[in-house]
Amino acid sequence: MADETALADFPSLFSLKGKVAVVTGGSRGLGLNAASAFLQAGCAKVFISSRKAKACEEAVAQLNKLPNLQPGARAISAPADSATVQGIESLVAQVSQHTEHVDILFANAGATWGEKFETHPESAFSKVMDLNVKSVFVTVQKLAPLLQKRATLDDPSRVIITASTAGLGVGTLGRQATFGYSASKAAVLHLGRNLAVELAPRHILVNSICPGFFPTKMANGLLELTGGLEKHAKSNPARRLGRPEDIAGVVVYLASRAGAHVNAATIEIDGGALWSTGQLLEAKDPGPKL
Ligand SMILES: NC(=O)c1ccc[n+]([C@@H]2O[C@H](COP(=O)([O-])OP(=O)(O)OC[C@H]3O[C@@H](n4cnc5c(N)ncnc54)[C@H](OP(=O)(O)O)[C@@H]3O)[C@@H](O)[C@H]2O)c1
Repeated sequence: MADETALADFPSLFSLKGKVAVVTGGSRGLGLNAASAFLQAGCAKVFISSRKAKACEEAVAQLNKLPNLQPGARAISAPADSATVQGIESLVAQVSQHTEHVDILFANAGATWGEKFETHPESAFSKVMDLNVKSVFVTVQKLAPLLQKRATLDDPSRVIITASTAGLGVGTLGRQATFGYSASKAAVLHLGRNLAVELAPRHILVNSICPGFFPTKMANGLLELTGGLEKHAKSNPARRLGRPEDIAGVVVYLASRAGAHVNAATIEIDGGALWSTGQLLEAKDPGPKL
């Protein structure tokens, strides 16, 4: 009988030793959290991309100072505007100067817009849809040849898309309504499923993460306007907001051998906040019997 306790090389199950990763929106926030995790899990090269070259360089300098990188491992700056096809082509060209293949794409660059229904601008709706949906498609399309280069049945390449719980439930409404953002995140989740089924036979797996609230530059303004960090933490079933390690754990899992048969999946990272709204009634403790 087969030994059912035997797990092939368990100590390396979550390792990314020697892997090459590209992170869009990598200069700060969740992208920088993920880049740090990729490097600390063993990646040999992590490309940091965002529009501002200086921000990419600063992030790279910070990452390259991490004490526990593999020998020779490094972060590399690759500034590019993910919102344009030329920008995405420039990203691929910059990456190609340093590597002939890519193992992990974290398609994370995104934008939001908050404005009430009556005045919600058409231009902002388009901008958000373009960056959060179309650009993810074009980035995967243009990087696919590099992602396919070393991908095999046993060691597939990975695409991880940053969607949002706003794409699973209803986003923010009222004064700071995020109609375009919420629709874009729902759309990119379904794009991810389509890509997952298309690309898995080429040994590229595609999964999405749905963060809840993480206090980043993008989220801080909205968190403040809607009652502040403490209020949001208290109302979360887990009684806190997201932390960098929460992103790190999920992206390393999805990018490593541990996630090698996970495809077309969506992982919420929100402490259960999305489903807490499904609670119908909370019965109070009965008062003292008279
Ligand atoms: N924080 C949250 O609570 C939360 C929740 C759910 C989902 N998300 C999603 O997580 C992702 C990252 O957001 P974040 O919270 O980490 O925000 P953030 O701190 O504002 O970071 C956004 C990153 O994207 C880059 N970026 C913006 N526009 C870009 C473009 N056109 N091309 C290339 N890079 C661009 C920014 O750098 P430059 O300005 O230099 O371009 C920055 O590196 C987004 O997709 C967001 O929708 C965030």
